[in-house]
Amino acid sequence: MAGATGHQQWSSRWTFMLAAVGSAVGLGNIWKFPYEAGEGGGGAFVLVYLAFVFAIGLPCLIAELSLGRRGQLSPIGSMSKIAEEEGRSKLWSLLGWSGVLGGFIVLSFYSVVGGWVLYYIVEAFTGFEGYDAAKSGATFTAFITDPTKPIIAHAAFLFITLGIVARGVQGGLEKAVTFLMPALFVLLLGLMIYSGITADFGAAVNFLFSPDFSKLTGDKVLQALGLSFFSLSLALGSIMTYGSYLTKDINITRSAFTIATADSAVALMAGLAIFPIVFAYDLNPGQSVGLVFTTLPIAFGQMPSIVAILFFFLLTVAAVTSAISLLEPAVAYVEERTGIDRKKVAIIIGLAAFVLGTLSAWGQSGNMLGDVKLFGLDIMSVKDYLTNNIMMPLGGMFIAIFVGWFASRKNMMEELAMEDSTFKIWYFLVRFVCPVAIGAVFVSLII
Ligand code: TRP
Repeated sequence: MAGATGHQQWSSRWTFMLAAVGSAVGLGNIWKFPYEAGEGGGGAFVLVYLAFVFAIGLPCLIAELSLGRRGQLSPIGSMSKIAEEEGRSKLWSLLGWSGVLGGFIVLSFYSVVGGWVLYYIVEAFTGFEGYDAAKSGATFTAFITDPTKPIIAHAAFLFITLGIVARGVQGGLEKAVTFLMPALFVLLLGLMIYSGITADFGAAVNFLFSPDFSKLTGDKVLQALGLSFFSLSLALGSIMTYGSYLTKDINITRSAFTIATADSAVALMAGLAIFPIVFAYDLNPGQSVGLVFTTLPIAFGQMPSIVAILFFFLLTVAAVTSAISLLEPAVAYVEERTGIDRKKVAIIIGLAAFVLGTLSAWGQSGNMLGDVKLFGLDIMSVKDYLTNNIMMPLGGMFIAIFVGWFASRKNMMEELAMEDSTFKIWYFLVRFVCPVAIGAVFVSLII
């Protein structure tokens, strides 16, 4: 249904929550969190990550949702409208631009990894029997350096994503998440119970929850902050756009708290599903990006093949519900500016993401563009660096600065309708803690 402004709206708080949690919960939780926690030595990293989610991510999440709802437009439209209402420079709309473009860039490589996951469902059907470290590594490398397979998988993943976005907020996004999110939750719970019973649950709990701070370097602390932002979908347009479909009667603070809780709960559940297997089969928890694609298949080979099929299916679902939130901001903007039919816009932007993503897929070492390096990084890493280390921290910092210092306190209070004491805490966090903490991370990330 269109709102008073002609802009679309969520049909209920429940569908909004599913969509927002769907955006937040993704490869960041199930693929990135376990391997970063694994590399970071476990418990201490997890603790720091959770502290960042609630002390810095949550206030920013509230800020971003409130800007979106107040603007009722795409991130670019909302930011320029609000800046004008507040008598501030039009330049603040750059924050919207960075969100829309950043989301598009992330989409272009997120969907490449999404394609890998999709392909691994197929692999899982043939089974991972007899996989050892060498075989599983070789299979993965052969796949990602193949000139065509990853491209087809990437195209298929994007096709699903744009198919959902093309149908609009209520006809596409809501329908997809009301089916996919409960499925994701049940699957994850099932896998967690299964690996808890059949593998080494105690070792996983010990690894994830007993902090050993000696393993926590400064670098890992920064990584934990980056991950908290990435996993909450902050600062790249997704959350602001989802906020713009909110009606005024919804309590943003409460919703944001639930989103952050669900997001970290899923990360922990994913850890509790994956690490029992890693320890029971004596695998290395610090296997970096390969944890899900090369380490787990070794164990999957010794389990009923349905476990692996369900695992990669679950990962695909989580990735799709996040990818739609990466495509939505750009589609919303172009639709708003040009009035062109949403279906056409989704296809055009989806195609553009396909082309840009193909460069990342081919840019894997050993592949045809594998020698192309910018600042010594392959194409996928350049995009990751630009978005994760530059656009996300800067975007988050300026969102906090805008709501804390440039928007009037009265307007923020009205929009958020928080209790006085909660508002004071939040206001303190966005004015001081968020900009300083994110600024510190930003500086240390680029130097
Ligand atoms: N949060 C998602 C994940 O954990 C990815 C994602 C979706 C995202 N939208 C975003 C990350 C916006 C940063 C910004 O996988």
